[in-house]
Amino acid sequence: MDQVEDARGLAHQLLADSIPRRWSHSQGVGHKAESVAALVGGDGPALVAASWLHDVGYSPDLVVTGMHQLDGARYLRDVARVDDLICRLVAHHSCAFIEARNRGLGDRLADEFAPVEGMLSDAITYADMTTTPDGVPVEVEQRLAEILDRYGPDHLVARSISEAGPLIIGSVQRIKAALAED
Ligand SMILES: [Fe+2]
Repeated sequence: MDQVEDARGLAHQLLADSIPRRWSHSQGVGHKAESVAALVGGDGPALVAASWLHDVGYSPDLVVTGMHQLDGARYLRDVARVDDLICRLVAHHSCAFIEARNRGLGDRLADEFAPVEGMLSDAITYADMTTTPDGVPVEVEQRLAEILDRYGPDHLVARSISEAGPLIIGSVQRIKAALAED
């Protein structure tokens, strides 16, 4: 089996029964990543695999710190033993460094998982942040507004996503521009 098939199977196993809405979202993010994979050349399979897996840290059995990016990446590194680049993409998707800092986990996240730069980082953030919780394509501004609404303005996740908003929008704009040139 290849990297993407393995990732899809593992995400299904961890999410489909326990948190089916996250599974719906993950399917949408996986498919969205496939649509932009050509932009990252040989890293395409790692991008798509990480997109299927990016939210496994919400799976109840995996929660340790409560920060899903870190919990998911640690599980993928230590238990599932997936490739390092996939773990790093999961750890840092959608500007996780901001939420990590706000949780007092910023150094830990950066020490354990080297950040991913450039188009690859933009692409996973694009895939996540232009897909609704139900897995349907959506504009990034609506996606950000929905997160704020769902968590409430005082929640740490909502505050972090507000702070990350301009960076997330920048990632989405760079991917859209690259797609338009393609
Ligand atoms: Fe997500």
